[in-house]
Amino acid sequence: MNIEDLSLELSSVQLPDEQTLEQFRIRFLGSKNVLKDLYAAIKDIPNDQKRAYGQQVNALKERAEQLYHEAKAALTQTQSVGPEEDLTRPAGDPQVGAHHPLSLIRREIIEIFNRIGFVVSEGPEIEDDWHNFSALNFPPEHPARDMQDTFFIQKGEEEIALRTHTSSVQVRVMENQAPPIRTISPGRVYRNEAISARAHCFFHQVEGLYIDKDVSFADLKQTLLYFAQALFGPQTQIRMRPSYFPFTEPSAEVDVSCSLCAAKGCNVCKYTGWLEIMGCGMVDPNVLEACGIDSKTYSGFAFGMGVERIAQLKYRVTDLRLYSENDARFLRQFKPGMA
Ligand code: PHE
Repeated sequence: MNIEDLSLELSSVQLPDEQTLEQFRIRFLGSKNVLKDLYAAIKDIPNDQKRAYGQQVNALKERAEQLYHEAKAALTQTQSVGPEEDLTRPAGDPQVGAHHPLSLIRREIIEIFNRIGFVVSEGPEIEDDWHNFSALNFPPEHPARDMQDTFFIQKGEEEIALRTHTSSVQVRVMENQAPPIRTISPGRVYRNEAISARAHCFFHQVEGLYIDKDVSFADLKQTLLYFAQALFGPQTQIRMRPSYFPFTEPSAEVDVSCSLCAAKGCNVCKYTGWLEIMGCGMVDPNVLEACGIDSKTYSGFAFGMGVERIAQLKYRVTDLRLYSENDARFLRQFKPGMA
């Protein structure tokens, strides 16, 4: 090995890993390194060249030491950087949020009614007796107040309540606007129920109200058929069963044909082919009068549905508690228009 060969070798050496580095150390810096022969050969070099020769061999040695230390430092550094800290890695997918399933359903319901001219109205969740009950034809001490297990709060002399339905918002609309009125009121409502898979102490509603001259039960039926077909598909049928609400007369419960089994009968519709989705009826003249609307000139219909109930049918989520637990693994599954 002569100086030129070794110098060439050093100029192109690659030390990418521990093993190569160790071989390099043994070869250039170990106890039997290649430079030793060059040092030993000094005695055979003519005197006038000894100095220059010695300097070249020293330079080789220094270069080898420098390369060794640099490579060693680089390797130690790579090891201490864990995979999470590797700044050269491509970035992972950013975490993106998702809309809450109840928000998706609420938005879908609102869009369907927007198309036929219903506008959204909102009101307070903490209500007084008038807007939640009295204006809606619940006389004081009327047993119908027990239909909705109300959270009451004593505020000085006055008793206030968490609204049990968003019909309270519609009372506010009727008090403040002259007919024609076409409005829907989405919002959270509260009822004093033990929390289980099938009941919760709060849930969400969308209630609707239409008041004009000559509004009939046929208008109500057609509006709800249009809604049911827009939400559950064009083959959907509805049926109405007589019912009772203090604020509507006549009143009905609305069933839609089961979209899960094409009305053939399954465990969701309990083998009846029908699913109950809302209450409705013609606004009681007492309600119109209580809100300052002339019941001789105007008539109207109202309806109300639970958003959780619709979400349950569309997404087949049977445990109501999942909607308020905020488990990201549950919430991430829902996309607009997936059901
Ligand atoms: N407010 C009723 C409820 O919360 C629903 C309803 C609205 C029924 C309008 C009839 C008419 O249960």
